Amino acid sequence: MSKNDVKKAEGKLGVMVVGLGAVTTTFMTGVLMARKGLAKPVGSMTQYDKIRVGKGADKKYLKYDEIVSMAKLDDIVFGAWDVYPENAYESAINCEVLKEKDINPVKDELEKIVPLKAAFDHNYAKRLDGSNVKVCKDRWDMTEQIREDIRNFKKETGVNRVVVLWAASTEVYVPVNENVHNTLANLEAAMKADDKENIAPSMCYAYAALSEGAPFIMGAPNTTVDIPAMWELSEKTGMPIAGKDFKTGQTLVKSGFAPIIGTRCLGLSGWFSTNILGNRDGLVLDEPANFRTKEVSKLSTLESILVPEEQPDLYTNYYHKVRINYYPPRNDNKEGWDNIDIFGWMGYPMQIKINFLCRDSILAAPLCLDLVLLSDLAARAGRHGIQRFLSFFLKSPMHDYTKNEVPVNHLFQQYVMLKNAIREMGGYEGDEEID
Ligand SMILES: NC(=O)c1ccc[n+]([C@@H]2O[C@H](COP(=O)([O-])OP(=O)(O)OC[C@H]3O[C@@H](n4cnc5c(N)ncnc54)[C@H](O)[C@@H]3O)[C@@H](O)[C@H]2O)c1
Repeated sequence: MSKNDVKKAEGKLGVMVVGLGAVTTTFMTGVLMARKGLAKPVGSMTQYDKIRVGKGADKKYLKYDEIVSMAKLDDIVFGAWDVYPENAYESAINCEVLKEKDINPVKDELEKIVPLKAAFDHNYAKRLDGSNVKVCKDRWDMTEQIREDIRNFKKETGVNRVVVLWAASTEVYVPVNENVHNTLANLEAAMKADDKENIAPSMCYAYAALSEGAPFIMGAPNTTVDIPAMWELSEKTGMPIAGKDFKTGQTLVKSGFAPIIGTRCLGLSGWFSTNILGNRDGLVLDEPANFRTKEVSKLSTLESILVPEEQPDLYTNYYHKVRINYYPPRNDNKEGWDNIDIFGWMGYPMQIKINFLCRDSILAAPLCLDLVLLSDLAARAGRHGIQRFLSFFLKSPMHDYTKNEVPVNHLFQQYVMLKNAIREMGGYEGDEEID
């Protein structure tokens, strides 16, 4: 691919976020504050990282926007949907992630971000009870209404392109149903038949985004775009998709730490991860059906890094457990504990303990920015379907499970995929092997 094959990032970029809660308002406030020079977008790869291009005497380390045309922070125009009617300023204050002194300088801009009515079904998040909800005849009508929102947003703001990002609550677990989720025709038929069990509201957002020419990113562990019918739609509309579930705290540590064990050929007998958090996300995840979705996502990380079939002496039958506990006093400040039982020379056991006192939304906000800017880049580069190079940012990377594809969870392999994709879109060769 040559650099000229990528359309330039001209005009404004609309970023429509599903959910205007802790993550989204932290993301928006940070972008608006950074634009004014009042905060730094720390943790964002697109704003800080430098990638080597060229080799030997010709090698240079360049930022992403020096390699390929990227939208700038100034280009972003925000929109959102939420079940609750509070604007982005009110919601940022309520979420108590950021101090008022870090929100007030952009109060006017945040107040203008008023959520559109949500496409919502109470059965998908029983702990939520907001009034800002669309009245829909059926799932097809729900999709049509979201499409209209996107078209109106484009018209009203004059944005050139739109990306839709899901940063709303985790829905209850929707298992893949082969009769519904396997083809686009079956998915559309189920939407028209108002099959509420198999068609989650998030699927309506994704369908609407892709149909309106917007990339769709799934930041929660929901099934949504992780089905062949949506892959088909993204190919048909030529749009990129990525998911699932922002890789922020414990799983980031896991996908970065497990390679230490694997690379040194140490054994693993168990990995117990538990954490406490008290924000609305924690409240929703306190519901067993919603936690199930998260658990499936979190558990998938180790299996492809420490593989029993490849090293039976080291990784057969290790016990892997993940717990999330709702604990209101901590609000957004999640505390995670990992207890790792490993064994070494002649099987002698050892333990590693990791205690991560993190801030959930502070870790997620830069990922939102990177996923949005990079999926816009991917669309301009004509890349469609599952964007595997975005796995770096995601807990449960999408992959074609119908062909038994094994997802890459290893953080440093994912980083190579990210770097090679940027290089290729910038007209350089992808020159690192994913070992
Ligand atoms: N912060 C992290 O570290 C992290 C990591 C991975 C994934 N996530 C996921 O990101 C999502 C957002 O997290 P948060 O802390 O901001 O949660 P939050 O509860 O503060 O915000 C979510 C918002 O989504 C809204 N919502 C729910 N269903 C909706 C729908 N159908 N349409 C429109 N709005 C809807 C809710 O009303 C709420 O305001 C969660 O699914 C969470 O699991 C967060």
